[in-house]
Amino acid sequence: MDEKKKVGYEWWLGLGAPTKIVAPMVDASELAFRQLTRKHGAELVYTQMFNSNVFVRDYTYREENFETCPGDRPLIVQFCGNDPETLLAAAKMVEDRCDAVDINLGCPQGIARRGHYGAFLMEELDLLHELVSTLAKGLKVPVTCKTRIYKDFDRSLRLCETLVNAGASMITIHGRTREEKGQLVKAADWETIRRIKEHFRGRVPVIANGGIESLQDYRRCLIETGCDGVMSSEGILENPSIFDESHNLPTQIEMAYEYLEQCHAHPVLHYRTIRSHLQRILYRFCSIHTELRDKIGLARELDEFSAIADECRHTSLLPENSHINYDAETWYKRHRNPANVHSGSMNAEIAMDTNKNGLLYYSCSDCNDTEDDDPLGFSIFG
Ligand SMILES: Cc1cc2nc3c(=O)[nH]c(=O)nc-3n(C[C@H](O)[C@H](O)[C@H](O)COP(=O)(O)O)c2cc1C
Repeated sequence: MDEKKKVGYEWWLGLGAPTKIVAPMVDASELAFRQLTRKHGAELVYTQMFNSNVFVRDYTYREENFETCPGDRPLIVQFCGNDPETLLAAAKMVEDRCDAVDINLGCPQGIARRGHYGAFLMEELDLLHELVSTLAKGLKVPVTCKTRIYKDFDRSLRLCETLVNAGASMITIHGRTREEKGQLVKAADWETIRRIKEHFRGRVPVIANGGIESLQDYRRCLIETGCDGVMSSEGILENPSIFDESHNLPTQIEMAYEYLEQCHAHPVLHYRTIRSHLQRILYRFCSIHTELRDKIGLARELDEFSAIADECRHTSLLPENSHINYDAETWYKRHRNPANVHSGSMNAEIAMDTNKNGLLYYSCSDCNDTEDDDPLGFSIFG
C-alpha cells in the first residue's frame, strides 16, 4: 500500500481542482471523444462504465475497450459491479493508467436491475460500504462514486454518508431519481445537490450532474449548488466545446471535422460510435436536412463520414439555405420539451432511425438494453 496516496480534497487539488468534468458515457466516452473535450476545456474526463465481471475475465474486451494515451489525464475509469473482490480485481488492472476509479451507482436501466448493479445498489448500504472500502484500501488511486438522489432528502444523505464513510474520495450526484429516466426525465434537482454539498462541506469534493447544456449552465450550477465541480453528459455530446471559454468557438459542422480528426489520431473500435457522435453533433443540421442524417446512418468508414461533413458544409453555404436558423432545436432539448415527449414528434422520428439504423441507441456490449421500461432507448445510464 502506498503511504503517500492522496485522497479526498488533497487528491482533487492535486489534479488541479477540476471543475469542468465530462461524464462517463457508455459507447460515447471513447478516447477520441475524450481528447476532443479536453481540447475544448474539459479538466477531468471519465471513461465509459465497464462491467467489472467482463473486464476481469475477458482480455479482448479489456484491450479493445479501454484505450488511453499520455495526454489522456486526469482520467477516471468507471466500473459497475456488486462483488468487492471482482471490482477490486478489475480496478487493479487500470490503476496505473488513471487518477481514480469510480463505481457506477446511478445506472437505472433494466440491465442494471437484472445484473444487480448501478442504481439498484442504492438501498444496499452494507454492500456499498464493503465495495467502497475494499477499493479504498486495495487501490493505489482513490475510489469515487457517482449516484442518483431520492425524493426523500434524508435517504439521499444516508446513501452519501455511507459512501464517504467507507472511503469515497469524491461523490458525483446526478440530481434525478432512479425513476426519472427515459421519457420521465425531469429537470435535475440542483437544490437537493446543493443541500448534499452543504452537508459534506470540507469533507470530500461533491460534483453536480444533470441539466448542463451550456457554459452558462455550468457557471450557474457552480453558483447555485456550491459544488466543487460540474459534470456534463448529454449536452457535451452535442456540443463538445461546452466548457470552452474562448470567443472563437467552432460551428457544429467544424466540430464534426474536429471529431473526425481525433478519430484519425485515436481509431475508434465501432463505426456505430462515430455515427452516434456525428448524429448528435450535427443534430440541428440533420433534423432539417434529413437526407444527410440518413447518410450518416449508413456510413462505415472515416472517409465516408468526412464526405458527409463536406456535404453538410456545402449545403449550409447554399444561398437558398441562408435563411435557416440551424440553432433552433438542440439535441439536448429534444426529449425535454414536454410537447415532444407527448406528441412524440421528434422522439418518434429519432426512435425510428434508432430502430432502423441502430443510431443514437445507447447500447454497447455490456449495456445493450431493449427492455420495455425504455422502449425508445432514451434512458440515461447513470
Ligand atoms: C449516451 C449516454 C451514456 C451514458 N453512460 C453512462 C455510464 O456509462 N455511466 C454513468 O455513470 N452514467 C452514464 N450516463 C449518464 C450520464 O453520465 C449523466 O449522469 C446523465 O446523462 C445526466 O447528465 P446530463 O443531464 O448532463 O445528461 C450516460 C448518459 C448518456 C447520454
